[in-house]
Amino acid sequence: MKRIGILTSGGDCSGLNAAIRAVVFSAIERGWEVYGIHNATNGLILRPLAYHKMSLSEFEFPFATLGGTMLGTTNQGNPNVFPTSDGKTEKLTDEEIVERFKEGVEELGLEALVVIGGDGSMNIVSRYCQAAGVAMVGIPKTIDNDAPGTDLAIGFATARSVVADALDKLNTTGGSHHRVMVVEVMGRGAGHLALESAIAGFADVALIPEIPYTYEGVLNKLKQMNAKGCTHSLVVIAEGIKSPEGKNSFSVNGRTFGGISEYFVDRLSKDGFNVRGNVLGHIQRSGTPVAVDRILASSFGVHAVELLAQNKTNRVVAHQNGKITDISLEEALKIGNSPVDPNGEMVHVARNLGIYVGE
Ligand code: F6P
Repeated sequence: MKRIGILTSGGDCSGLNAAIRAVVFSAIERGWEVYGIHNATNGLILRPLAYHKMSLSEFEFPFATLGGTMLGTTNQGNPNVFPTSDGKTEKLTDEEIVERFKEGVEELGLEALVVIGGDGSMNIVSRYCQAAGVAMVGIPKTIDNDAPGTDLAIGFATARSVVADALDKLNTTGGSHHRVMVVEVMGRGAGHLALESAIAGFADVALIPEIPYTYEGVLNKLKQMNAKGCTHSLVVIAEGIKSPEGKNSFSVNGRTFGGISEYFVDRLSKDGFNVRGNVLGHIQRSGTPVAVDRILASSFGVHAVELLAQNKTNRVVAHQNGKITDISLEEALKIGNSPVDPNGEMVHVARNLGIYVGE
């Protein structure tokens, strides 16, 4: 290897810059060149190409300690629609995209691409890479923590701390006003973030997409707490759960997910509770990465470069049972995403703490 590209794709999260740093540092240490591709694959597909040659000095101050991604990203709903320089959009066919991507890779002379992304991005970018004949290594990131084959994805630990911190704050105001604080947490179709944050933030209810619940179950829990003299409570709701009637598509400000907490605020108010709702939103994707994410991102970046140095390509790095390892891209794509195991440890802990997590 002499020259590699690196890009971030999909929703941002904390720890991406630390991962970019790790790849750049360990690649340059080997005498390689690293090209940072801007705005996910757009940097190779749109014209002019958008990239820059990366250097150690870029990290002097202060990117690696910040959330977001210094390379930019996209998580466009339609992967065939692209922005144009005059502020409009253009639609490219799959063939056109791959052709442009291939030309971009060739123009920069890239021998491999390090792709930092979630399961959706890994799927799309791997198709481009395969069609363009360029090798790739994936690094999983997502606050949803549902990336395949890894116990941890970059961004999850920081998001979990952000939510736990928010729960601590909502606990004091909820306690002062004797209120039920309903808190809606991101995660798409996965409940890892809601469940683990609920445990960390000492919540009373945690509803997640993987476990069916009843409204009566929530109500009973809150009534039991009142009967025991507790006058306030924290109800954590994953954005991806269905309403008890089975409605699963809530949309706020054009987002596919988001809005289910309103249902509970409304219904619990009608049942006589003093309730306030909070949708934490994109604040969960930001903030200085916690040490766990910095170490994970650094380890993933180093491992990705080691794989390339050994000519092991089309692999995705992973964290399994406390160790950094890798799985094949094919396997990762086959697994898709990994939801909360309803019989797993976190659900067991939550139940034994008396948290209502469904039936
Ligand atoms: O997948 C990460 C995530 O933050 C989800 O938890 C959330 O539903 C979604 O992205 C939000 O996407 P957007 O930034 O497009 O609103």
